[in-house]
Amino acid sequence: MHTIVLTTQKGGSGKSTLAVGLALAAKETGHVVRIIETDPQGTLSNWQGRRGNGEQLVESAYHAGEVERRLRALMESGVSLVVVDTAGGLTAPMTAAIRHADLCLIPARPSVPDIEATAATLSIVRAWRRPFAFVLNQTPIRGQRIDKAANALCEEAALDLADVLARPLIAMRNDHQDALAAGLAVSEYAPNGKSAEEIRALWQWVEERLSLSSASEALAAAPEIMPALAALAPKQIARMS
Ligand SMILES: Nc1ncnc2c1ncn2[C@@H]1O[C@H](COP(=O)(O)OP(=O)(O)OP(=O)(O)O)[C@@H](O)[C@H]1O
Ligand SMILES: [Mg+2]
Repeated sequence: MHTIVLTTQKGGSGKSTLAVGLALAAKETGHVVRIIETDPQGTLSNWQGRRGNGEQLVESAYHAGEVERRLRALMESGVSLVVVDTAGGLTAPMTAAIRHADLCLIPARPSVPDIEATAATLSIVRAWRRPFAFVLNQTPIRGQRIDKAANALCEEAALDLADVLARPLIAMRNDHQDALAAGLAVSEYAPNGKSAEEIRALWQWVEERLSLSSASEALAAAPEIMPALAALAPKQIARMS
């Protein structure tokens, strides 16, 4: 099971919107998905209520201990992907989710105050040494601002752009708001639209990033693999010569 966490202290950045978008894009590709809502604002339970199709995608956990219990239970129940939506601000359930994240996604609108506001969240993610990436959300469909925003994010994280900035950027489009209002994900609301296309591509980026981090974790967790490979190599070379 993989756990991705949408987190940033800045309100209105798109945590809940992207949580739903990514969860349903992953479901489309065959994942068994649950969303954990840790925000008592209840954006996603309300969304679940509007769906009204009986399928329980959203589970609430408003305390740190509950978040951990839910994650353990889901791991044992055959779920392959958990998407955690967190509240704005710096909260205990958010930190609990970050601690268990395979990937933290930090959404930010492309403006200086929004990007500066990621610093506190980023320092918690880094303190727990979790993999992370920024998602630039609500970007103008046209404009010069994006390059500056992307550069600012890279300075914030002091890393190469390709490692820390998820692709594609997610443009500001009404489909996102209309989908949430209808109890749908954007890929259900307008399956052939640009927003659905971007969210599906973002899920692909995330899935690839998840597979990279589990590969490196597997190597770190099994250091005996390296001597085993090293021991094998000379024999093969000897056989070939
Ligand atoms: N790419 C987008 N295009 C258009 N509207 C968007 C987009 N992303 C988010 N929104 C809208 O912006 C508003 C804030 O988004 P959302 O509720 O997902 O943010 P949030 O980070 O979860 O906020 P909070 O911190 O309050 O939980 C919502 O009205 C949502 O529909
Ligand atoms: Mg929210």
